[in-house]
Amino acid sequence: MPRTILVTGGAGFIGSHTCVALAAAGYEPLVLDNLGNSDVRVLERLARISGRAPRFVEGDVRDRALLDRLFAEQPIAGVIHFAGLKAVGDSVADPIAYYDNNVHGSFVLAAAMQAAGVRTLIFSSSATVYGEPDRSPIPEDAPRRPANPYGRSKLMVEEALGDLQRSDPTWRIALLRYFNPVGAHESGLIGEHPQGRPNNLMPFVSQVAVGLRDKLAVHGGDYPTPDGTGVRDYVHVMDLAEGHVAALRHAESQAGLATLNLGTGRGASVLEVVKAFERACGRPIAYEIGPRRAGDVPAYWGDPALAQATLGWTARRGLDQMCADSWRWQQANPNGYQG
Ligand code: NAD
Ligand code: WQD
Repeated sequence: MPRTILVTGGAGFIGSHTCVALAAAGYEPLVLDNLGNSDVRVLERLARISGRAPRFVEGDVRDRALLDRLFAEQPIAGVIHFAGLKAVGDSVADPIAYYDNNVHGSFVLAAAMQAAGVRTLIFSSSATVYGEPDRSPIPEDAPRRPANPYGRSKLMVEEALGDLQRSDPTWRIALLRYFNPVGAHESGLIGEHPQGRPNNLMPFVSQVAVGLRDKLAVHGGDYPTPDGTGVRDYVHVMDLAEGHVAALRHAESQAGLATLNLGTGRGASVLEVVKAFERACGRPIAYEIGPRRAGDVPAYWGDPALAQATLGWTARRGLDQMCADSWRWQQANPNGYQG
């Protein structure tokens, strides 16, 4: 019998790709999503990739009665918890919405798991918990000083789950700190489709390439980096998805708490991303170097050595593949799942 894994936020960008990796690894994903930032039509696409759609429950992770029902009715072996809000600027404007969804939502989930006796949990954290690091690559034990409510919401959940695991050592928890997830499944059937004007670099570049936007505004060309533009650790979403399966297997094999970076260990500048995308799409990407964006860190990338040692996981896909896969998705689906 394939083991059922509850995937909160499984209709979203990283969650949908993780459903593909779970199915490929012989697990049975059960998606719980309120569709606040996703489209139910992703399920048909998942069926085309994996042979059948994951089971889907529309609902909110803060709904304790719903969770209790799910855990009672389904043989759930573990949970991957993606559901949450992720826009840094929105979290500054409406911090309570972020603490309510990301922190309170995680607490409701953990309490329901405890009551149901399900103690395997993989949590979506973020490199944003490091804030501005002293150096790169960033190891997991670097100081955590998130610079905005979104980052603080992730750190609060990390700390609470650490306390929970110390209170009951039978918990099996992985806190995964993602660097910059980009790319799409190689089929071009699922990908990232932000609502409105994209905040993040790769969706913006894709929209310029496909003609939806005139040009990219490069946020700062005078950073102390090789070409003056910001440097980040971009990681392919399918590598991340496979990292979740590896983390789940690890958690199933032993009780404890693992805190792991998921990144490539390599930084790329904004202009390197633009050049790689031009190679992928065969078109020039118009850009203009403008002022720095408030709150941006000049450069950082992760140290993935602990994830490799603990999980045997390494990001395999490089920047050219990230851009090629983003382009395939964007070109085939300029309006996302709306067709
Ligand atoms: P996403 O918005 O595409 O996916 C999140 C999903 O959760 C969406 O489908 C949304 O509808 C759902 N959701 C939100 N609140 C919910 C709730 N209360 N109940 C049920 N469903 C809810 O985002 P993503 O990029 O796939 O991110 C997934 C997770 O990874 C988030 O927790 C995010 O903070 C974290 N993360 C993302 C990034 C990134 O850059 N994409 C980086 C680090 C960490
Ligand atoms: C990358 C680089 C920008 C857009 C954010 C969150 C972080 C995490 C991942 C969730 C930077 C530059 C961008 C544009 C640009 N999310 N840029 N023009 O800021 O590293 O991380 O997403 O946990 O918490 O903060 O990602 O893609 O916005 O920016 O020049 O239009 O691209 O300045 O150097 P960021 P990003």
